[in-house]
Amino acid sequence: MYEHLETADSTEKLKRVVIDPVTRVEGHGKVTLLLDEDNRVRQARLHIVEFRGFERFIQGRPYWELPVLVQRLCGICPVSHHLAAAKAVDQLVGVDQLTPASDKLRRLLHFGQTLQSHALHFYHLSSPDLLFGFGSDLTRRNIVGVLEAYPDIGLKGVKLRKYGQEVIRMITGKRVHGTGALPGGMNKSLSGEEVAYLLEGLEEALTWSAEAVELAKQLFLSDLEHNQQFAYIRSNFLGLIRADGALDLYHGGLRAHDDLGNTIFDHVDYRRYAEFLREEVRSWTYMKFPYIASLGRENGWYRVGPLARVNNCDFIDTPLAEAARVDFMAHGAGGPVHSSLAFHWARMIEVLHSAEGIQRYLHDPDIQSQDLMTRGEKRHEGIGVIEAPRGTLFHHYQIDDQDLVTKANLIVSTTSNNQAMNESIRQVAATYLDGQEPTEGLLNHLEVAIRAYDPCLSCATHALGKMPLQLEVLDAEENLVARLERHA
Ligand code: MG
Ligand code: NI
Repeated sequence: MYEHLETADSTEKLKRVVIDPVTRVEGHGKVTLLLDEDNRVRQARLHIVEFRGFERFIQGRPYWELPVLVQRLCGICPVSHHLAAAKAVDQLVGVDQLTPASDKLRRLLHFGQTLQSHALHFYHLSSPDLLFGFGSDLTRRNIVGVLEAYPDIGLKGVKLRKYGQEVIRMITGKRVHGTGALPGGMNKSLSGEEVAYLLEGLEEALTWSAEAVELAKQLFLSDLEHNQQFAYIRSNFLGLIRADGALDLYHGGLRAHDDLGNTIFDHVDYRRYAEFLREEVRSWTYMKFPYIASLGRENGWYRVGPLARVNNCDFIDTPLAEAARVDFMAHGAGGPVHSSLAFHWARMIEVLHSAEGIQRYLHDPDIQSQDLMTRGEKRHEGIGVIEAPRGTLFHHYQIDDQDLVTKANLIVSTTSNNQAMNESIRQVAATYLDGQEPTEGLLNHLEVAIRAYDPCLSCATHALGKMPLQLEVLDAEENLVARLERHA
């Protein structure tokens, strides 16, 4: 949904095009394009309103409430916040190493979350663009259109997501907003019946995951030159990495690679994140711009998420996903793959890895063990970091002697990708929209670029689990006067 707004300017006539809200991304955001009389693109920006309310809201609350409270932060990624907070809270109760049962149950939960989140994004939100074309008929560019035109693909996508949700439900008791993690462990293990139930659906989930990788790959290769160039930017990449260099979605040290794949830092204890990362505030948006401190604001921005993780890791420790990774990396010509649309392919490699990881843990007797809790000596600071489906997620808490939270800082994945999404839409605007009358089909190209990152605007806005209801008109540096109306 978009509208053209004439803006008053003393020297020249500029036109502001607002895409508001960005559709088929999770949450609410807004793109503004500034065009001159000849439709030359002067500026393209993604605005996300980040409220600071949540970090304040949890101040004064007892720390043990955190893993449950933070789920209200986002209705889309509650499991990711639950686990990141739980890892931070483990430290508050003096625990650095969970029991094998609890560690594996949390990892299994995280695989379920990654599988369902990635499947939802690819099939429901992105496949319409990829299957029909970015500028295709708007009326069928949605999951219903996919189910009609490609029922086999659409149905498998829906069922694959359902399987991930069932993994979550078995562990937490609910598909959305369940619990499971406690300070220092988990509140229950899986019963033999629950494991048997999940094993029933596993073979199909593995098959569909392998097919998802193949589909994402074929879609990318089908128009290789276009797909490589679309929203192409070069960037640094950040994420967690296991001590041996393997992809690890749940735990590891921080690794940053530059655009050539060279190491910026590696195996950094994530509790030291504040020494390595900075967050910049800019006047025209409330969302911060994190960057790698040693590289500075101009050059230090980076990407997180599936593309960063698959590029950054040395290998994947499940065989099918590893074969898919090797295949994928061949398109990086010896370095990282930079194409924004390659996010989809990398995301499906992680779906396959998640399905294989679920298989591994379902056959591990530890997940049925009752040895779930550990305790140590109380600490006043805890920092939990995980690789959420959308990228690295930081939860940082301080508590006082009464066990109440005194300080909280969160960096969500979408915030880390903020600069990259802005760079990507600038590239797309310059390539596809410059000098053109902006039609819906052309404007959708901007959304396709943003959607590749799978942003969760709900998380990024810290809006207590609600979408921001009111968007402000932000000052443009050119002193423009623009009237904005939100279409519900
Ligand atoms: Mg923050
Ligand atoms: Ni979220």
